[in-house]
Amino acid sequence: MRKSCVLAATLLKAVADFIEPGRTIKEIDDYAGRRIQEAGARSPFLGYKGYPGYTCISVNEEVVHGTPRNRHIQYGDVVSLDLGVIYGGWVGDTATTVAVGEIAPEVRKLLDVTEQSLHLAIDKARSGNRLSDVSHAVESFVQGNGFSVVREFVGHGVGRTLHEEPQIPNYGPPGNGPKLKPGMTLAIEPMVNLGDSRVKVLADGWTVVTADGKPSAHFEHTVLITEKEPEILTIPEGVSLRRR
Ligand code: MF3
Ligand code: CO
Ligand code: CO
Repeated sequence: MRKSCVLAATLLKAVADFIEPGRTIKEIDDYAGRRIQEAGARSPFLGYKGYPGYTCISVNEEVVHGTPRNRHIQYGDVVSLDLGVIYGGWVGDTATTVAVGEIAPEVRKLLDVTEQSLHLAIDKARSGNRLSDVSHAVESFVQGNGFSVVREFVGHGVGRTLHEEPQIPNYGPPGNGPKLKPGMTLAIEPMVNLGDSRVKVLADGWTVVTADGKPSAHFEHTVLITEKEPEILTIPEGVSLRRR
């Protein structure tokens, strides 16, 4: 699973670098599909409940599960890219949100707060803590910064399959749920809205958008619970594990 996660992270970085104004979502997803195949891996998203892409690419007011389509990337967009692989029988699942060129200061803050909330949550992913300690870390930090957490979609356990027990909401009081144990692997993935928390699903049956049309951000890591520090598995090849 270490290998599948390093691969997912390495490809996430490569595909994120491929996002440029003028390219369509479909072109970016096709590129990801080629890179995944060249690496000897498969996408766990493709065909999942009928999902039509290799990756999920969600622009601006789109929250998650953006499907490959003809929409062009524009200067000033914020683009969430979620990439998973199955490699050697194990899944790695990771996501980032990138700014294409210059974005408004409040949207920059949205990205920063969402990424920071992920790292605060990861810091709670320790043996002996309870699952909702992770959830609560996201919600309290996000709300403290005036943004809102999406409630309809959650993080999850991950391993031989993409979505395993337990579900990991990004909200709730601390101290609840199962105790975390060494060896558990969790995909922690805050989805944070600039406006209010309501979302809806578009007619394609997949693409989730904010109800108020304001931007949303999404970051995700696959994390291993150990006896000591939580270990982020989805760090790209060649990047020091110490880097946070
Ligand atoms: N990558 C998403 C997650 O982080 C799941 C995508 S499932 C798909 O859990 F079918 F929408 F691709
Ligand atoms: Co994901
Ligand atoms: Co996930």
